[in-house]
Amino acid sequence: MPLHMIENVTIPSDFNLPNRLTLEQKAQDDALFEQAKELIKQKNALLIAHYYTSPTMQRLCEETGGSIGDSLEMARIGRDSDKDLIVVAGVRFMGETAKILSPNKTVIMPNLKAECSLDLCCNIDDLKKAKQDHPDATVVAYANTSAEVKAQADWIVTSSLAVELGKYLTTQGKPILWVPDRHLGSYIANNSNCDIYCWPGRCIVHDAFEANALSFVKKEHPHAKVLVHPEAPKAVVDMADYVGSTSQILAFAKKDPANEFIIATERNIFYKLSLACPDKKFIEAPVASTKGHCISCANCPWMELNTLKALIEALNNVDEHSVHVDETIAKAATVPLDRMLKFSADLKSGKIVLE
Ligand code: 13P
Ligand code: SF4
Repeated sequence: MPLHMIENVTIPSDFNLPNRLTLEQKAQDDALFEQAKELIKQKNALLIAHYYTSPTMQRLCEETGGSIGDSLEMARIGRDSDKDLIVVAGVRFMGETAKILSPNKTVIMPNLKAECSLDLCCNIDDLKKAKQDHPDATVVAYANTSAEVKAQADWIVTSSLAVELGKYLTTQGKPILWVPDRHLGSYIANNSNCDIYCWPGRCIVHDAFEANALSFVKKEHPHAKVLVHPEAPKAVVDMADYVGSTSQILAFAKKDPANEFIIATERNIFYKLSLACPDKKFIEAPVASTKGHCISCANCPWMELNTLKALIEALNNVDEHSVHVDETIAKAATVPLDRMLKFSADLKSGKIVLE
């Protein structure tokens, strides 16, 4: 279906990536495991972590009764928990979403500077201008956006629901103004009948997966199935046996009879994949390189800011690490977020059936 790329929007040329941890720093951080575990219990906090955080952070989640999830599940879990102190180990939009959905709870993050390149690609003034240029369009924002952007949207969606929402909105006969991921926008357009005005943003991790190199890896592993996150480029998505969110990739690997999988998403997902399927083999999909160096090496540099050291610091200094969202913005953003959660529940219960 028609995909119209939007031009004249401000996309940062350099995302000012944080420094990577050295192996020594990682080892020092891992050594804080018991201290972090004790503190979570002492503060009666709920730890919610994304699959892209370090294996140690994910293990901490498991051992303290917390939850690991994709962005949709993280949003739900925080809202449904009866704990008053929620620790979100992820990137800023995940903390903001948790706070918007649980305004009366204290939501903290190990590092409030954990950005997401997609979020940084969506400038609020450009969005307001695009809305004026496309007054008839339904504004659909990916969850990987700021609270301010969400407040301007009709719908929020995560990767696990994006195609379904595209199909659903097609029945309403209106075009979609989609922000900010160009590849997910194109994936929705290719898998539904909607007309999409698509923002040119990108995830620096997934955008780097490379189709030519992938074809070589496929030749080396002819029986492996290729599982791809939809933030990857179309040429990579076209080579996939399955496309889905992080949780969906995990669920597919568990139930599929294949024994080998090539995975095109952030590499920390291998922790859960290997735990869930100890007898299966998981291979990293190759990423493009610049002057011999990969840009992110399939590792999100902002997710890496979620160290145990930072988590301990956050639990000991709750005020300094609390997520705040302006009340008016939060109120406006709640509407499309609630729509997404209801849409997801209606799909699950069969109240909404799509062709
Ligand atoms: P999921 O919703 O699949 O967890 O994706 C979040 C994300 O940031 C992907 O890069
Ligand atoms: Fe954002 Fe990409 Fe990192 Fe996910 S992996 S948080 S989309 S930069």
